[in-house]
Amino acid sequence: MKKRILVTGGAGFLGSHLCERLLNEGNEVICVDNFYTGTKDNIKHLLGNPYFELIRHDITFPLYVEVDEIYNLACPASPVHYQFDPVQTTKTSVHGSINMLGLAKRLKIKILQASTSEVYGDPTVHPQPETYWGNVNPIGVRSCYDEGKRCAETLFLIIIDNIN
Ligand SMILES: NC(=O)c1ccc[n+]([C@@H]2O[C@H](COP(=O)([O-])OP(=O)(O)OC[C@H]3O[C@@H](n4cnc5c(N)ncnc54)[C@H](O)[C@@H]3O)[C@@H](O)[C@H]2O)c1
Repeated sequence: MKKRILVTGGAGFLGSHLCERLLNEGNEVICVDNFYTGTKDNIKHLLGNPYFELIRHDITFPLYVEVDEIYNLACPASPVHYQFDPVQTTKTSVHGSINMLGLAKRLKIKILQASTSEVYGDPTVHPQPETYWGNVNPIGVRSCYDEGKRCAETLFLIIIDNIN
């Protein structure tokens, strides 16, 4: 069945491929991106598709759309980009997750969060099982990304538990 799917960070590296895949599977896609690291070039081949919609928006601000599923990929992923504005990086993971989870909760829909192995910091266990809590520096240069993503995992757990 055709679904309307929101992809945040849809103009990024992973997001643009995900948008393409979801469209090819017969879905409608709403791509939300503030173009911080993503580009229109990544999605220009999708712009003429009537089932593809692009919204320039920063997910640290609330968004109200009617959709059936959410993939939350928005967040700069490379150190040079996420360290450029560490407060915005943290806000994207934390405020962005709160906003997207709020939407998912209101609509009672599934949401996927793109986390990262960086939540383990500098791990002392290899490979890392789900039970491993990590070895993370809260005040290092990577902390805005690592701790933001860790907080997002916390939010996903506590808010999703309240949806079901
Ligand atoms: N690429 C990897 O190897 C990798 C590994 C682990 C996790 N991830 C996660 O996957 C996701 C996508 O990674 P990617 O490699 O495609 O990165 P990317 O930088 O290419 O894509 C991120 C997208 O999010 C957008 N964005 C950033 N902040 C935003 C905001 N506040 N509001 C709206 N849009 C915003 C950017 O403009 C960009 O289009 C990220 O959440 C990243 O942390 C990626």
